Amino acid sequence: MYTCSRCGGLLAVELPVEPRRDPLKLRETWWARRISTDTRDRSGVWRYRELLPFTEDAPCTSLGEGNTPLYDAPRSASYCALDALNLKHQGCNPTGSFKDTGMTTAVTQARILNARLLVCASTGNTAASLAAYAARADMLCAIVVPRGQVSRAKLAQTLDYGAIVLELEGNFDDSMRVIRKLSEDESIYLVNSINPFRIEGQKTVAAELLEQLSWEVPDHVIVPGGNLGNSSAFGKGFQELFNLGIIERVPRLSVVQAEGAAPFSRLFARYDHNSLDDDKPVVIEMVDQPQTLASAIRIGAPISWQKAWRAVVQSKGWVLAVSEQEIADAKAIIGRDGIGCEPASATTVAGIKHLVSAGNIKATERVVAVLTGHILKDTDYVTNYHSGTLVDPLERPLSGTFANQPLRVRANKNDVLEAIKSRSAQ
Ligand code: F0G
Repeated sequence: MYTCSRCGGLLAVELPVEPRRDPLKLRETWWARRISTDTRDRSGVWRYRELLPFTEDAPCTSLGEGNTPLYDAPRSASYCALDALNLKHQGCNPTGSFKDTGMTTAVTQARILNARLLVCASTGNTAASLAAYAARADMLCAIVVPRGQVSRAKLAQTLDYGAIVLELEGNFDDSMRVIRKLSEDESIYLVNSINPFRIEGQKTVAAELLEQLSWEVPDHVIVPGGNLGNSSAFGKGFQELFNLGIIERVPRLSVVQAEGAAPFSRLFARYDHNSLDDDKPVVIEMVDQPQTLASAIRIGAPISWQKAWRAVVQSKGWVLAVSEQEIADAKAIIGRDGIGCEPASATTVAGIKHLVSAGNIKATERVVAVLTGHILKDTDYVTNYHSGTLVDPLERPLSGTFANQPLRVRANKNDVLEAIKSRSAQ
């Protein structure tokens, strides 16, 4: 349903560019909607509906997604040796991850099609998001997750929203394979990011981000890479804003993966950055047994790699991989900025540190990292890091470089004060 019958590539939605659209008028319209009480205007996705392939009377299913904060993060910036760094926190969406921005449009499309059953494979966040939006739309949904590889919080959310949860033997890539077979049945509607209507919603984040920067295009945007739908969506979003004349250039889009689940980064490493050409055919080698504690991106066969490749190459960005220790430390540093995220999101800051030290990002350039999930998505990870018990997938201990352990005190004022004094002196 979502693949081209000629080349086998994934389909994308293309809207004709309306030549008479005034870019400044569009910006004004989107800005003015911020103070409206209309459900669609309250959503940070539907507010940009001129970019979406829906008619005015579409049965929009929204939970008030989008409108996520753009923070400045001075500690993370200095950790990366940058003058400044912005973090766009997509974990502040209704179900705690960026998936909601695409799920609102995918579930709306499912309603238009009168779909009977919505399905997805997931490492946890897509599952929670689909479960919530299907519940809002009063539709049946079934979710396939790799057993034992999804964080407890994500599973708990999904169950609470009433989805049918199927725990599959195998990893995410096996779940994805099964789900694609399932969706050959026409009554079953697949909402993984191979569904182009997911990408349509997710791409609006590019517009929201630029609006928050007063339409001043940053030099770099950095995203974590798993199945590579998010990278594809950002690439598409920036390109369309450029085609509409809303921005005068696109930022470099770079993707960061975890070392143990990095097929896209390995593909990129085979080529010289300066002579990359998106017209040249390339073939990715998938990773058989992906491993990372950042379970959201434990993916060896990313489904949207071709779209993401185009986005990275056209914008002259980079793809790289970071270690488990680097992810863990970057996450703790982001925390010190007062901003919590899940491990997969912290690959961005770890990756930026690499890109700066390699001279690919300059200290004075404007950089935005996209945080994709909320800190409470995986509290086991956080607790283990701070108590020094975090071990990598091969059971090797990771060091709690920036660990912060609780102190035990007796129940009296003096002991409490002494403990505070000793800790604050460290
Ligand atoms: N960050 C988080 C928190 C995620 O949940 C995901 C993907 C990614 C990054 C990677 O984004 O796949 O578009 O490259 N999670 C999917 C899921 C696979 O099922 O929740 P991507």
